[in-house]
Amino acid sequence: MPIQYFEETRLFCLTTATTAYLFQISPNEQPLHLYWGAKLPRIEDYPLAPPDRQHSSFNATLHQNMSEYLCRNSIAEYEPALRVTFADGTRDIRLKYLSHRIEGESLSVKLADIYYTLELTLEYRVIPECDMLARRVTVYNAGQAPFTLEQVLSASLPLALDRGEYRLTHLAGAWACETLLERCAITPGRKVLEGRLNYSGHAANPFFALDLVDSAGQGAGENIGEVYFGALQWSGNWKIVIEQERAAGKRTRVAGGINDFEFSWQLGASESFETPWLVLGYSDAGFGKMSRNLHRYVSEQLLPPQFAHELRPVLYNSWEAVFFEVNEAAQISLAEKAAKLGAEVFVVDDGWFGERHSDHAALGDWQPNPVKFPNGLKPLIAKVNELGMDFGLWVEPEMVNPDSDLYRAHPEWAYHYPNREPITGRNQLMLNLCREDVQLWMLGWLDALLSEHNIRYVKWDYNRAISEMGWVEGAQSEIPVRHVHALYRIVAQLRAKHPQVLFEACSGGGGRADMGMLAHFDHVWTSDNTDPLDRLLIQQGYSLVYPPKTMYCWVTSTDWNRGNYPIRYRFHSSFMGALGIGTDLNSMSEQDLAEAAALVAQYKQLRPIIQQGNFYRLTPLGEEEVLAYQYQREGEGVILAFGQRYHFWKFLNRLRLYGLETEALYQLEGDLMEGEPHLLSGKALMRRGLVPKLERALNSALITLHKI
Ligand code: GLA
Repeated sequence: MPIQYFEETRLFCLTTATTAYLFQISPNEQPLHLYWGAKLPRIEDYPLAPPDRQHSSFNATLHQNMSEYLCRNSIAEYEPALRVTFADGTRDIRLKYLSHRIEGESLSVKLADIYYTLELTLEYRVIPECDMLARRVTVYNAGQAPFTLEQVLSASLPLALDRGEYRLTHLAGAWACETLLERCAITPGRKVLEGRLNYSGHAANPFFALDLVDSAGQGAGENIGEVYFGALQWSGNWKIVIEQERAAGKRTRVAGGINDFEFSWQLGASESFETPWLVLGYSDAGFGKMSRNLHRYVSEQLLPPQFAHELRPVLYNSWEAVFFEVNEAAQISLAEKAAKLGAEVFVVDDGWFGERHSDHAALGDWQPNPVKFPNGLKPLIAKVNELGMDFGLWVEPEMVNPDSDLYRAHPEWAYHYPNREPITGRNQLMLNLCREDVQLWMLGWLDALLSEHNIRYVKWDYNRAISEMGWVEGAQSEIPVRHVHALYRIVAQLRAKHPQVLFEACSGGGGRADMGMLAHFDHVWTSDNTDPLDRLLIQQGYSLVYPPKTMYCWVTSTDWNRGNYPIRYRFHSSFMGALGIGTDLNSMSEQDLAEAAALVAQYKQLRPIIQQGNFYRLTPLGEEEVLAYQYQREGEGVILAFGQRYHFWKFLNRLRLYGLETEALYQLEGDLMEGEPHLLSGKALMRRGLVPKLERALNSALITLHKI
């Protein structure tokens, strides 16, 4: 049973395959967090709450700091997950346990304020298949007088009470360098990871991992050590707060949810507010197990069901080939070459609509440009289909250029403050998606576009951060939440009406790579930076949390680092996820096109292993000289290894593989170092390992593994 309740001790015990999570209702009706970590043999093995005490009048009491969900009351030593102002100005919350309900893998615990009409439900979902659980809360106003929510996080909890040293692993970056690995020691104080520009953001990703550092200063590795981790299912402003206090054994707390930045929410009579889920996990076998559990969660539980288990198509996208110079003849010529290469979807990017000749105009005017497409998009789509490919189209529905018919007709539709000139970013403004008329307009034109055309793929972009959350007639502080809810709703409605369409989430590359998007979109455009060397680190960061098949990786001819990379290296870098091609095919030689076509064919063969297999990092996180990955699906495996720097004295470490049957024999093919055996037992591959052939800098190796 994944959720147990012990009446006598008023103890809740949530278990997954290897983890346990416990809390208890205290004698004064407070939920106290007791334990999160490895599953123990007996219920008696877990700690119960010690008696309450207070270290000094400068500290909250022990029980307050052990709270399963910290609210604003008493002495606030840590981030309160819930802050409100009641109608009379009171800002203190005193909750008591009311009741609970267990339904299979779900638990809800209801608490209510002792005086005011605030009810709080703590919700838990155990996800046994992924060895994880998820938390969120619902706040309900059971009375007449409205009150104001100022902060309502999805969860807050203390980590193991008696151990202190943690290292934080998170993902940070900027445009063109998203999801880069960052690490630091947690020391007393606060560390806040957040997004506050109306999207999850390029700068940080709503994910954290805290591994335990032992007395020798050693943290967890790929396959050993303890890691606590979590990711927020939200695509708007978010924050994750990690706090440590020097006294009391360096107690560490984590809290996460919607950011309180520029946020408040009026909760009227009988209204409720539900937070997004924060998924949480604990790995007793390092970061590798963490990633695989997160990948499984996204693949099995989160992705929209239509395509969750389907292979992602090889796509061609014309953006880097032509930028805004899109027209029927040029696209057909690219489509013919893309089809020969083996592309399965042909995506027309920005530039197809209105007077869109640069990024200065036309967002909002979603009609094909009559000069570029004199007969609309249909002839191009027909040609693409005739060539055996599906057709895809780029849109950026949430934005408007001031130089557009839409803006001239509806300037009030963009977020703005009165008496202020609106501030543009990439020459565009953001549409006020909180407005019903904007929502109806957006749903209307997208629905018509998808109904009237054979479009099977939509790339949904979002190319600026917000500068003004202005809304003259509405509640400005509710924008950060209402915008995201409207986005999710519109995409869900479109998907329901057009189930044949794959949806890609994009935001100037990977600015919207989060679990909220992956609950509504099938995959993510990982970064505008398509340099194959740069991409390795971006892709390593992305795949730390999200499964490879949700990460589109294009092969282009752009050399951000002037690396002059071999075609093979470019492809191998893009083999790490779902393969796309974004090169100007017109400028490729026949010889290069033939090599590329062979690589596409090889990818298609390996694709079920790469997209549906288990993912193992064979080189430790943070290592940059050699990066190596194994994708394993039952008896079939693919190893991708990349040599970044080369010194003549350098000997390559053997790569130890994972997830094999010890006694089985595996046939190896591909880029193995001379003298390496081509037939080894699973145990040998996992213990002795293998050496890939990586003899120069910017070299790559691909090895396949087949159980015989
Ligand atoms: C963003 C996307 C690119 C491309 C351009 C088009 O930057 O990330 O892939 O679609 O917009 O303007």
